Amino acid sequence: MSTAPLDPHRPVAHLRPPRNWINDPNGLVFHDGHYHVCYQYNPHGATHANMHWGHFRSPDLISWEPLPLALAPTPGGMDADGCFSGNAVSDGDRMVAFYSAHRQESPQHQPVTCAVSHDGGRTFHPSGRLLIPGVPEGCTMYRDPYVWRHGDGWRMLVGAAFADGRGAALLYDSPDLETWTYRGPFAAREKQGVGGAGLHTGEGWECPQYLPAADGPGALIFSAWNDDDSPRCVVALVGEEHGDGFEAGPPVLVDHGPDSYASALLRAPGGRWLLWGWSGEARDEAWSVADGWAGVLTVPREISVAGDGSLRQQPAAELLALRGERTLHATGQTHGADAVVLGGVGPAFDLTARLEPVGAAGLRLLTSPDGSEYLDIRLDADTGELVVDRDHASLDPRAQGGSYRMPCPTDGPVDLRVIVDHSIAEVFLTTTGQVLTLRLYPTGQGPWRLEARSMPGAHLGYAVDAWQLHPLVIKEPADCAAHPEP
Ligand code: FRU
Repeated sequence: MSTAPLDPHRPVAHLRPPRNWINDPNGLVFHDGHYHVCYQYNPHGATHANMHWGHFRSPDLISWEPLPLALAPTPGGMDADGCFSGNAVSDGDRMVAFYSAHRQESPQHQPVTCAVSHDGGRTFHPSGRLLIPGVPEGCTMYRDPYVWRHGDGWRMLVGAAFADGRGAALLYDSPDLETWTYRGPFAAREKQGVGGAGLHTGEGWECPQYLPAADGPGALIFSAWNDDDSPRCVVALVGEEHGDGFEAGPPVLVDHGPDSYASALLRAPGGRWLLWGWSGEARDEAWSVADGWAGVLTVPREISVAGDGSLRQQPAAELLALRGERTLHATGQTHGADAVVLGGVGPAFDLTARLEPVGAAGLRLLTSPDGSEYLDIRLDADTGELVVDRDHASLDPRAQGGSYRMPCPTDGPVDLRVIVDHSIAEVFLTTTGQVLTLRLYPTGQGPWRLEARSMPGAHLGYAVDAWQLHPLVIKEPADCAAHPEP
């Protein structure tokens, strides 16, 4: 595979193809000894159009092999204008991908179809028929199947919006993956606030995902969609199945940052669940078009529902193998309006920190030599929040700013894990299992440096370590000549 030209904003430890536009992770499944990760992909450019499914597989989440495009629109077919999102299941020696068939003439109704692979995902054969031709009464939006095994049969959720204002995940079941019967909404709700920053559960639910727990509560995850461009978010309902319905408590955010959407689940061997999200660009479209690419997948995250009903995420354990040299190890304290340089980091690093703040204090990643460009990761012991502030994270005015918060108990030490990879930062609050993802576009070429800082009247105890983050190993595609990209 040809390598993309050096681009300071291009992540190296996050999955994406060399060029062009990507959005949602699709078809996530463990099959034939491999994690399969497909994604919404425009092979013709860096904007959202011509949706195909690109495809990678990996035995270990570190070394990835690009496979031929899994799905492509069929000219004149029911998916002629795009193969939209969906998931895949492993059923004996076959992989079955379920997806949303897009036609321009019905922009909010993407009925469900499928394609089958008998060769470990190298080739998929579209069924050429709609599995569920009609859309239930009153649906104003309908797309994104998610299929899972349930007892001896199968269940499917499809994301929807109802004309009466409710977003919904609609339930179907099937004995054989062929014949599907509608059972009604698995869950449906009117818009409800979530996370306290003006976000809500949306008019419609895209990309519903379901994590059924072996015992105890499970999680229904969906992406909160609105017909206008108000901010979107990924939401979880934690609750329990009762027959054909899911009863849950208040909605919670799956990610507290602005740049994670369409998160999707993979059921890994040994009962482990992994989650990838799509992290879209937070910069002018013309800029990403000029660079020839847009969008990246988050790192895979282990996700679980804890005994207390909270959703917990952490980077998949395998990612520790990407750690290279430890470039920083610092312990100490700051007092009052003080800043201590902890050391240098490269543009891709993995960091752990134990912070003990009194008042407002935290870490600053300085990316320009004069210190005018920086990302702040601040703890506010007074409000009980962790704040990630990117208002000064790029000197380029085409990059978006904003500061984002997640709840953070500060009555004890706060443990963080931060993965920064060129233009993406994922801040895991290890203490609670919450995460905040955002994009940033530093203009400073490095070396970057890290400071511990406290505000007047505050102080901070810190222990910080940072390691260089190695790139993922992307293998040469075995048969690119046989399956060239269009
Ligand atoms: C979510 C989404 C899905 C749809 C796909 C199209 O980002 O809008 O609902 O299937 O993207 O690319």
